[in-house]
Amino acid sequence: MSGFDKNWLALREPVDMRARAITLVDALSRHLGAVGQASILDIGCGTGSTWRSLTPRVPAGTHWTLLDYDPVLLAEAERRIDGKGHVSFRQFDLNEMQSLPLSDVTVVTASALFDLCSADFCNRFAETLARNGTGLYAALNYDGVMEWSIPHPLDGQVAADFNRHQRFDKGFGPALGPDATDHLRTSFETLSYSVSVGSSPWIMGPDDAALQEAFLDGLEKPLTEIGSLTEQDIRAWVDFRLEKIAEAGSSCVVGHTDILALPRS
Ligand SMILES: C[S@@+](CC[C@H](N)C(=O)[O-])C[C@H]1O[C@@H](n2cnc3c(N)ncnc32)[C@H](O)[C@@H]1O
Repeated sequence: MSGFDKNWLALREPVDMRARAITLVDALSRHLGAVGQASILDIGCGTGSTWRSLTPRVPAGTHWTLLDYDPVLLAEAERRIDGKGHVSFRQFDLNEMQSLPLSDVTVVTASALFDLCSADFCNRFAETLARNGTGLYAALNYDGVMEWSIPHPLDGQVAADFNRHQRFDKGFGPALGPDATDHLRTSFETLSYSVSVGSSPWIMGPDDAALQEAFLDGLEKPLTEIGSLTEQDIRAWVDFRLEKIAEAGSSCVVGHTDILALPRS
């Protein structure tokens, strides 16, 4: 089990979908359309959010392999997607990178994954893709921005503590957290790839109350583990934020970036 709950992934999926930088999706689609038979390997697929987002926009007939190490999430992806196209499913731990099934893969896709990864993992991953002439589309990497339209005096400390926690090991060594996209950009540019980056923030209002509540709920544990705020401060801040969600004009922005890195032809 990865610790990523399928209900959390379901809550974020519609907001992820509208946040994706569309110019990068269009560029990905053009790249796939220019090869004879395009094939995508979606890593850290969860329940298949990337497949659902991209399928209407990539060439019909694109082959997909959805890969995750969590058998529960992978089974849910298979239950929801199997039979809907050229899709196969693979349980695989990305730490076994040397065996990644890359043969004939045009582009590797990922969403909400690379901020969990370390600098060393990203460097090795970029080199592995370059050896195979494979592209990368990595969307929704958290970029460190957390802002609310209605301020609270602890907002800055909360964001700083969360961003510190984002750099803890999430299974790949010390995580890049908010630096993931910048790091990937440098890795792929060094390998002479053509790299584009786009902004994909969550902009959540009162209509996204369920996601906002789950997001706030998910902040409590990392903030407590960092320990610079007292439990009472954290509770008071979360209660204030929960109370403000429904207020007219209230919004919360959580910043993300997408990156598309393609081998030059
Ligand atoms: C934040 S979730 C994103 C899931 C999906 N891409 C989405 O956007 O809904 C991160 C995913 O990465 C997977 N993951 C984490 N570490 C992994 C590893 N070492 N090997 C394979 N998958 C991994 C988790 O199981 C989870 O499905």
